[in-house]
Amino acid sequence: MIEQEKIEEIKRQTDIVELIGHYVPLKKVGKNYRGLCPFHNEENPSFYVNPEKGIFFCFGCKKGGNAISFLMEYEKLDFPEAVKKLAKNLGIEIDTSKGLRYKELYEVNEFAAQFFSSCLNKELGRRGQNYLKERRVDFTRLRDFRLGYAPASGGLRTFMRQKGISTELLIKAGLLTPHNEIFRDRVIFPIFNLSGRIIGFGGRSLEENVQPKYLNSPETPIFKKGDVLYGLFQAKTSIRSREEAILVEGYFDLLSLYQRGVTNICAPLGTSLTDRQAMLLSRFARKVNILFDGDISGIKAALRAIGLLIDAQVEVYIASLPEDTDPDRYIIENGIDQLNGLIKNGDDFFQFYKKHTRVETVEQEVALIKDLLKIISHIRDPIRFDRYLKHISKVFGLPLEVIKKELDRKEEPRSSTQIKISKEEKMMAMILNNREYFHHTKKVLKPEDFQESGVRRIYERLLKNEKFNIYDLTDMIDGNLREKLFSIIMTQESLPESNFVKVLNRYKNGLVEQKLKMEIRQALKNADDEKVKKYQKKLRELKLHSL
Ligand code: GTP
Ligand code: MN
Repeated sequence: MIEQEKIEEIKRQTDIVELIGHYVPLKKVGKNYRGLCPFHNEENPSFYVNPEKGIFFCFGCKKGGNAISFLMEYEKLDFPEAVKKLAKNLGIEIDTSKGLRYKELYEVNEFAAQFFSSCLNKELGRRGQNYLKERRVDFTRLRDFRLGYAPASGGLRTFMRQKGISTELLIKAGLLTPHNEIFRDRVIFPIFNLSGRIIGFGGRSLEENVQPKYLNSPETPIFKKGDVLYGLFQAKTSIRSREEAILVEGYFDLLSLYQRGVTNICAPLGTSLTDRQAMLLSRFARKVNILFDGDISGIKAALRAIGLLIDAQVEVYIASLPEDTDPDRYIIENGIDQLNGLIKNGDDFFQFYKKHTRVETVEQEVALIKDLLKIISHIRDPIRFDRYLKHISKVFGLPLEVIKKELDRKEEPRSSTQIKISKEEKMMAMILNNREYFHHTKKVLKPEDFQESGVRRIYERLLKNEKFNIYDLTDMIDGNLREKLFSIIMTQESLPESNFVKVLNRYKNGLVEQKLKMEIRQALKNADDEKVKKYQKKLRELKLHSL
């Protein structure tokens, strides 16, 4: 592991505005810099960078952190990699020989991919080759995907033994159970992360009666299915330059389009799209064309995906295939041009929703309108938002005022829960914001002065280690609290010492006052005049004191 001091030094020396400015154009506003958030799609900038504190925060999607977490998130690096990259920028040497936490997992996956791919190219892989041929996969045009074949007879374990890789590590990498090699007699699809490292595998059985049809590596520390999009690594340049992506369901759909030159394409890994995947895609695409299977489950999956993609602020279009087909089959039967035509003529989500929702009763129509409004209410681009409202008004013959009323009704509970910040949270933000006066803070406040467990935990941590950084530690603080703290820290000024001390004392006095009042109430209840007098006197003194 990299020493803590080195990390602190790297953080201190890194100019976070310059670093982030590399990826995101930033403009100075007051003490902060502001730009369009790289983690979600937005029209109006809500992404702030604070050079003084070395942190960033997006008021839109609530992502926040320091230079290291920025790189981790943006470049999808692990912690040591991000530190290494920053160090390199600064010309600081660090010893990473024992560094990279997940290095060995990446290595094992890399070896495994080599094994599977070499099998596919050998006599041993004839079954795999034939299967791919049958499915019209031209894997000479798909080199970047590094397809492979896992022989029925296995062999991965032996191959790995020769490389000096232990059974234990193979299990950890999700390639082996204690008894078996996981992939047997399957075509293998390596799954890449955004930096091109292999993090897991998918495997297609060759016989229709072998279940499951598709098998994915189990989740490992480097492989979280809901966070990855298959093909995105290969497709990302193309998606970025067109600002447009095609989203398909299956591995074969993807390869089929890709080998025919449609390269701005990716797929979730067999599960329905997650919000993280939608966010991820929105970093590369402004517009997403959903191209799912033509059956009921494809339509249902599309309806779900629409909401998530709109939330991620991308434009969504949906191409409809005939009911009994999927993109791969459609291309084989009708050619790529025809498919491209379908994509070009895709419905916007509104049309698609209407087309695929049964509206036979008034109640069904009400439900449809409410569903659509819910989706629309998440559109942050004011012009698109307005267009859709007008559209809904026209299509359903509803006066705009009625629609706006419905939206307002929804709005309220959301906003009130969102910005409720407690006194304790506010105080904690202030403490964090004025770290240099912590010697005052710790004289005045005790952990017991905080009732909220999250805030108290942070305070205890600070007492143990004053340098402790909430921007690094996400596991001990719940996301909600972290968000709130960030949003205050970002907008709050640091105080002059004397003011800080005043605020601190006022806070403490407030607590004491509360406690005394409680004691008085208790004493009154017990008719204990003595105590009542005693506490009332204390209370008077306190008030006098704090004048
Ligand atoms: P083919 O039958 O090979 O053409 O598959 P397909 O790509 O058309 O698959 P289908 O439409 O049945 O499913 C779409 C995607 O869902 C697949 O590419 C897989 O990623 C995933 N999937 C399908 N079946 C399974 C399964 O049994 N297990 C898992 N884990 N994923 C599956
Ligand atoms: Mn399919």
